[in-house]
Amino acid sequence: MKGVVFNLLEEFVRRAHGEHAWEALLARAGVDGAYTSLGNYADADLGALVTAASEMLGQPPPTIVRAFGRAALPLLAEKYPNFFRPFPSTRSFLLALNDIIHPEVNKLYRGAETPTFQFDASSPDVLVMGCTSARRLCQFAQGLIEGAAAPYREDVTSDETLCMHRGNARCEFRIALRSAS
Ligand code: HEM
Repeated sequence: MKGVVFNLLEEFVRRAHGEHAWEALLARAGVDGAYTSLGNYADADLGALVTAASEMLGQPPPTIVRAFGRAALPLLAEKYPNFFRPFPSTRSFLLALNDIIHPEVNKLYRGAETPTFQFDASSPDVLVMGCTSARRLCQFAQGLIEGAAAPYREDVTSDETLCMHRGNARCEFRIALRSAS
C-alpha cells in the first residue's frame, strides 16, 4: 500500500480527533508511522491501524474504512485540484476513474495497485458501479465515492448491492446524485 494512503489517514485522524490521536493510534496498532507518500508499506499496517481505531472508537472496521474514504477524497481534491477541474460533476468524475484518474495516479505513484471499475450509466438517475479491489477495500471505495460528491457540492446516496465480503466476485454500488439543497 502506497504511503500516501497512510498520510491521508494521518490527516483524517488529526483533523477529526486532534493532534495527539495519531500518535495514540500508532502506539495501539504497534506500527512506527514513518510513511513517505511514494514509499510502499505492508497492507498489514493499514489493517492494524483500522483494528486499533475500531477498538478505540467502538465502531466496526468497515464503518471506520468507509469514513476514512469519505474524508480522504476531499483531501485528495485539495491536494490535486487538476484531477477534478476537467469534470463538471461527481458522475463525470467517477466515469473518468478507469481511463484518466487512476492512470494519472499510477504515473505519480509508480507501482500503485488501483482497482478497476465497471460502469452501467444507462440510467440518468442512478450510476451503477462495480469494483474489483485486490485488497478487498470495498468500503474504502464506497467512502471515496461518497466523498467525491463534496467538492462538487452534490448530495449522494450509495447502496452496496454486491460485496466481495459477502461472497460475490466483486462489489457493486448504486449511486444517486443530486445538487445539494
Ligand atoms: C471516487 C474516486 C475513487 C475511488 C472509488 C478510488 C478507489 C480506490 C481503491 C478502492 C483503492 C484501493 C486499491 C485496492 O483495491 O487495493 C485505491 C487506491 C488508490 N487510489 Fe483511488 N479511488 C478514487 C480516486 C482517487 C484519486 C482522486 C486519487 C488521487 C488523486 C487516488 C489515488 C489512489 C492511490 C494513490 C491508491 C493507492 C494504491 C496503492 O497503494 O497501491 N484515487 N483507490
